[in-house]
Amino acid sequence: MSFTKGRRRLRGRTVGAVALAVTLVTGGLAAAAHGQEGTRVSAEDAVQAQAASLRDLADQQGVRMGTAVASHLLDQSDYRQTAATEFNSVTHENDLKWETVQPQQGQFSWSNADRVVDFAEQNNQMIHGHTLVWHSQLPSWVENGNFSQDQLRGVMQDHISTTMGRYRGQIGTWDVVNEPIDDNAQFRDSVFYQTLGQDFIAEAFRMADQADPSARLFINDYNIDGINAKSDAYYELVRDLLAQGVPIDGIGFQGHLISGQVPSDIQQNIQRFADLGLEVMITELDIRIQMPATEQKLEQQARDYEGVVNACYAVSGCSGVIVWGVTDAHSWVPDHFDGQGAALPIDSDYQQKPAYWAIHEALGGDPADPTDPPTEDPTDPPTDPPSGDCEADYRVTNEWNSGFQAEVTVTAGDSLTGWTVTWNLGSGESVSHAWNASVSSSGSAVTATDVGYNGTLSAGQSTAFGFVGNHGGSVSTPQLTCTSGS
Ligand code: XIL
Repeated sequence: MSFTKGRRRLRGRTVGAVALAVTLVTGGLAAAAHGQEGTRVSAEDAVQAQAASLRDLADQQGVRMGTAVASHLLDQSDYRQTAATEFNSVTHENDLKWETVQPQQGQFSWSNADRVVDFAEQNNQMIHGHTLVWHSQLPSWVENGNFSQDQLRGVMQDHISTTMGRYRGQIGTWDVVNEPIDDNAQFRDSVFYQTLGQDFIAEAFRMADQADPSARLFINDYNIDGINAKSDAYYELVRDLLAQGVPIDGIGFQGHLISGQVPSDIQQNIQRFADLGLEVMITELDIRIQMPATEQKLEQQARDYEGVVNACYAVSGCSGVIVWGVTDAHSWVPDHFDGQGAALPIDSDYQQKPAYWAIHEALGGDPADPTDPPTEDPTDPPTDPPSGDCEADYRVTNEWNSGFQAEVTVTAGDSLTGWTVTWNLGSGESVSHAWNASVSSSGSAVTATDVGYNGTLSAGQSTAFGFVGNHGGSVSTPQLTCTSGS
């Protein structure tokens, strides 16, 4: 039996209502992390407070949901708690940049960078390393050093090998080169390009690969989220680098976006880079609003976040999203974009915004809103009767212009070891990314089998798996067959 969730209803709620529901019980996200209780607990409050965190959902799906953090804010308990509870990955917002790490030649300073790494380790989080070779936040001794080619190579080599070497085994992915192409889609006129030409990029990647052969190495930039002249230039560049055998593993789309102006072809753009064999990540997502933020603007922003996050999770080569700051109070946007702000999913008071719930739902979260319980759709045909072995129950949990997300619950008839669920895709449908099951398709026939740990079920016991797929205009309701054995 399938049913639709109350996602439109949720989005229709006012920010105030969402904030109130959480504030009354928990005093916000940070307190929720500690399970503190307020004075008045209504049914809605209780359910709302139990909602899974973004981190829980991302972990279940095996995707990255990260944030940028600043070492000096880690003293604040609400900041720490929210960073640890809501995100499974952290990035140093500034503390790992060249000017901080090596402000004078040969003088490395690790205390701020270490604090963030220690925090991530204490909280069992991934770290995306940002960044090694960048024209900005670069100390003057590099920028104005008048180095020869060999000298600058040596300077790069030293910085990359020392920095990556220190965190070998701790930082799994790195922005090796940041922003090497300018807004006119030309190589940026940095000291690296002026001295070494475009080969500085390939050289930096080779040095990084030597420094930590197990790290995954990214190139990263802004305004390359949609298909445009700049992202086309990147497409050519990374294709050339790959053809030359340069060890590049991924591309980061920074995702510094404006609400209402999110490119509509993000998914297509992610797909074309993924098709080159690269991992794609949205590395610095924020979606800014012209202040003051109104309820309507926050709703638009929620749709924007939903679009970006779904575009990533719809492509199997896109491994996740990192938002650029823990809350609106810590975002770089108001300082860098005049009159704009409120760019993150959590507000300055640690309250979830509509954008938060949009991401939550894109990650498969249940809004769990008791005022709008899931209702069965009487037009939905029943799923297959139990075959004796097991029964599979299919529901579409999210749907957007070209994609959808579905969840399949497997319930054992008799106890079984291993299960297989099969169904046929509707016209134009495909499966792009699955979790908690091994899913393959041949033509329109899809086969999903357990992944070991969820294969053994006693009589009546259930387990669920999910997937993201594409559709050709509408989502079908398939008939499923469930059999024992995998
Ligand atoms: C920004 C930080 O958020 C600010 O605090 C700092 O003042 C400037 O840099 N692209 C990047 C990031 O790769 O490093 C930038 O971070 C934002 C744009």
